[in-house]
Amino acid sequence: MALSESMALSESMALSESMALSESMALSESMGRSDFLTRSYSMTANSRIKARLARLSLPGVDPVSYAIIRDIVHERSGIKLPKSKWALIWNRLNRRIRTLGYSTIRDYCTEALEGEGSYAERDLLVDLISTNVTRFFREPHHFEYLSRELIPGMGANSPIRILSAGCSTGEEPYSIAIALLGSGGSKPRPESRVDAVDISTRVLRTAARGLYSLDRLTGLSKGQIEAFFLRGVGVCQGWAKVAPAVQNMVKFQRLSLLNATLGTGRYAVIFCRNVSIYFEKAEQENLRRQLHQALVPGGTLFVGHAEGLVWSSKEFEYVRPSIYRKRAT
Ligand SMILES: C[S@@+](CC[C@H](N)C(=O)[O-])C[C@H]1O[C@@H](n2cnc3c(N)ncnc32)[C@H](O)[C@@H]1O
Repeated sequence: MALSESMALSESMALSESMALSESMALSESMGRSDFLTRSYSMTANSRIKARLARLSLPGVDPVSYAIIRDIVHERSGIKLPKSKWALIWNRLNRRIRTLGYSTIRDYCTEALEGEGSYAERDLLVDLISTNVTRFFREPHHFEYLSRELIPGMGANSPIRILSAGCSTGEEPYSIAIALLGSGGSKPRPESRVDAVDISTRVLRTAARGLYSLDRLTGLSKGQIEAFFLRGVGVCQGWAKVAPAVQNMVKFQRLSLLNATLGTGRYAVIFCRNVSIYFEKAEQENLRRQLHQALVPGGTLFVGHAEGLVWSSKEFEYVRPSIYRKRAT
């Protein structure tokens, strides 16, 4: 299929901006906006951080700023920032700090992050810090299991509801939708849909747009690209847009997996891959409970290959590496 020149990039972007995100933003407004940060800096911890930072010799970085950033990111996303990642974090923040016109990271922390109306800046901080690496049909064995074992077992006419938790820039939920549509098909199963959630508005904007440079389509076969994407021509050369049949099946929403409820028995399948690895143990437990509750009995959970141990419990039955099934009782 060809994405005609008349449907220029600007048009498809405007279209996507208006999509879904208004709903998501409303949701985010109602989300927990607790402004309380609990910090306990011991002198020993401070001097340890100071020593590490001195070794990194980064300009303008002080242990209090480090602790403020670490606590905000943890409080809002559950992501635990290891001290070893400070140089990377500094790289990601440096540009933002300069854009806002602050000369030190300390000013940025006290004025932008802790000052009046700092909520938006805190969300942006999480956006900048979080790691969003993803790709189409990542871990192909998950999609083989979904397409060959799960979907056929669910009956041709029964609707399927799937959650992509931590969906990043959309490649994961669109891959799920493509699997649901089946190879070469374009008729969605009745009422089947993929709910795709992430904490980052930045990645959700890209996801809702559904527009990818061709080099991002690795993982898809030629046939899948032909069937499920509109190829850009003219000014859109080098880009492909997810076809409406696929896009219409996916609903994006901004949601923090830590303080939102995902409902009870709502999903036959949940993908929650490469999200919990950044969480501390308590948050991982919280997430496990949430996902367990959200799955129907016998429902399937796909996790990242590095996250297996978190899920082996009496509540989940091991199916295959990084695939678990909610026990019926
Ligand atoms: C490494 S990406 C994984 C993307 C995809 N699941 C995959 O495996 O290809 C992790 C995603 O989790 C999101 N994330 C991190 N903490 C989150 C939270 N508390 N609630 C929702 N999403 C979160 C990040 O914004 C990021 O997009």
